[in-house]
Amino acid sequence: MAHPPTRVSVSYEGEGLRAQAIAMAELLGLKLATGSDDAPLQLNVTTEGLTLSLTGPDAPGPIRVDFVAGQFGYRQSRISLRSEPLARAVGIRGHDRPSVLDATAGLGRDAFVLATLGCDVVLVEREPVIAALLRDGMERAAAEPDLAGTMARMRCVQGHAPDILRGLGHAQRPDVVYLDPMYPHRDKSALVKKEMRVFRALVGDDEDAPEILTAALEVAKRRVVVKRPARAAPLGGREPNHRIPGKTTRFDVYVKG
Ligand SMILES: C[S@@+](CC[C@H](N)C(=O)[O-])C[C@H]1O[C@@H](n2cnc3c(N)ncnc32)[C@H](O)[C@@H]1O
Repeated sequence: MAHPPTRVSVSYEGEGLRAQAIAMAELLGLKLATGSDDAPLQLNVTTEGLTLSLTGPDAPGPIRVDFVAGQFGYRQSRISLRSEPLARAVGIRGHDRPSVLDATAGLGRDAFVLATLGCDVVLVEREPVIAALLRDGMERAAAEPDLAGTMARMRCVQGHAPDILRGLGHAQRPDVVYLDPMYPHRDKSALVKKEMRVFRALVGDDEDAPEILTAALEVAKRRVVVKRPARAAPLGGREPNHRIPGKTTRFDVYVKG
């Protein structure tokens, strides 16, 4: 399977956060960092929320989920239907706001775009440490008056997407299932490179992505959307009904009959 064993320890920024770090370690079944352990990844409990970092001399800076400031905050202010191919891919138009299940939530950026545009989004993330980062970011954002409405449209579920999809009752089936599986060498921007190094150390490649596509096609009411590198083969060799091209990535759209 694609999922390597994770070696993550939990650290904290000061004695005031020790109890929180112990609770987080227990919740995730991880150990507290001792300073002499060799865990390649650290989940850090800080005054600014949870962060995840690689350890070692050449490690990039930590990653965190931040829907309030930085890239996300900026993104929030510039989101428009015209500039987001993702919005077209999921079928947002006029007053139509399809419900979306994001089967590979990651750091929640794509889900956040869709929720900002008015879609209800369920975010499914398999890796418990990433899901913890995501929930932490969502809690902080929900405390911001400007983002509370968007956060109310986002719900995070930790688990294996095909199981979650197939466990949904008829009334819970989403209009759209969205997939953005890990893909080697997908984007070379500095930020993504940093994220990808930390991500890859934790989750590896998503080799079971074709299985998610199969389940998604069974469950989605209207369509399944897969984000792919611009020149990659379609996921699992399945040709989509149409494609929304982009410079570095494209969206493959599978329309339900
Ligand atoms: C490339 S990232 C997604 C990035 C995301 N679209 C964003 O905007 O931040 C892929 C994520 O999917 C998760 N994932 C992979 N296979 C999964 C599965 N079967 N079920 C749930 N999550 C999965 C990985 O753990 C990883 O966090």
